[in-house]
Amino acid sequence: MKICIIGAGYVGLVSGACFADLGNDVICIDNDPKKIKSLKLGSIPIYEPGLAELVKRNKKEGRLSFSTNIKEGVRKCEVVFIAVGTPSRDNGEADLSFVENVAKEIAVSMPSYRLIVEKSTVPVNTGEWVEHTIKVFNKRNIKFDVASNPEFLREGSAIKDFMNPDRVVLGVKSKRAKDILAELYKPLKAPIVVTDIKSAEIIKHASNSFLATKISFINAISDICDKVGADIVEVARGIGLDRRIGKEFLNAGIGFGGSCFPKDLSAFIRIAEKIGYDFGMLKEVQRVNEYQKALLVKKIESLLWNLPKKTIGVLGLSFKPDTDDIRQAPVLDIIEQLHREGAHIKTYDPQAMEKARMVLPKEVKFCKDAYEVAKNSDCLLLATEWNEFKELDFKRVKSLMKQPILVDGRNIYDPAEMKRIGFTYVGIGRK
Ligand code: UDX
Repeated sequence: MKICIIGAGYVGLVSGACFADLGNDVICIDNDPKKIKSLKLGSIPIYEPGLAELVKRNKKEGRLSFSTNIKEGVRKCEVVFIAVGTPSRDNGEADLSFVENVAKEIAVSMPSYRLIVEKSTVPVNTGEWVEHTIKVFNKRNIKFDVASNPEFLREGSAIKDFMNPDRVVLGVKSKRAKDILAELYKPLKAPIVVTDIKSAEIIKHASNSFLATKISFINAISDICDKVGADIVEVARGIGLDRRIGKEFLNAGIGFGGSCFPKDLSAFIRIAEKIGYDFGMLKEVQRVNEYQKALLVKKIESLLWNLPKKTIGVLGLSFKPDTDDIRQAPVLDIIEQLHREGAHIKTYDPQAMEKARMVLPKEVKFCKDAYEVAKNSDCLLLATEWNEFKELDFKRVKSLMKQPILVDGRNIYDPAEMKRIGFTYVGIGRK
């Protein structure tokens, strides 16, 4: 199939490269000429395992190209995916002006039938608005369909997630749209949920909200474990083995971040508000997430007594491992708070330092590895569970530190082992 993807961000680029790899001809469009120029030269604007090779291969084999010209893409391709950004407004709702502009451009560029598919996470009813906008500007009355096909990929494992989805959701209004999308996804051999457009839109927001709820739930339980001396890892295993609950997304930590959960929660709360429902449950999920970060600062304070002039080494800056993405990373707020309290911060991240440098206070010292971070630190905070932090030589780490205090913000270390080496070990809800 000939596919055009508008928006070469995370979702657009990964989907484009994967669709091309499945044998389709894909044009990825973005209105940022610098991004398109560098993509054409083979440079990928984000760090995502396997993506650079996938783009390179498919570009070389002629199935993947890049352009800034929406008209060209819409003219050449029958299926047009909208994967542009939907940033948060100040009141939490999604800003859909990029989606609207793209819909207008598609409307005036369609030479014949086109299937326009929303891939970005959008509020319910966006499909209707896209359809309405296209109708208004489609002066030649060309036939078209709108569909919703939300993407569930996770950063860091995006290609694997795209190629092996738990399910593919198709929100459609016509058989023609359903048949085209079902054919496109056939090679993935995944269960396909065919539904109406509004339900598909809600599936995406509801999924992310539910996953965020699971994380805040386990974080809340971890606080109770801390207070009574129980172990959250044991508790999570004990509840997670119940198949009705499931063991995924039950890792207590410093809170969730990223480009999706925080934004989607706010957007969903706002959607509910607009239709007269107070989604108090999701507000609590947000509150627990904020509390989790503040709690970590308190934990460090209780271990170090006074924060001014103490040196805190922070391992990891990205919101999760295997990505250089720092959007809404909880550790950034934690660093800000510790810095405000007068602590010196040293840090290292395998991929995210370039981006973090632009947003963190200028006094933060960026190091070349975990050992340099440990040197002369009063406390080491593990904030992102990169594999390389799991394999550290902790005897060396301890010998480099001023005080051997380890705060494990992701519960990746064995408390008994760390205590044996001589650390004062504090995890999240761990004994
Ligand atoms: C998420 C959804 O998982 C994905 O389906 C959707 O398409 C986009 O949003 P992503 O934000 O890339 O994906 O990462 P994810 O792995 O879901 O992690 C999100 C945040 O939750 C991270 O900060 C992570 O550290 C945190 N998390 C996750 C926990 O704190 N505990 C867990 O058990 C799982």
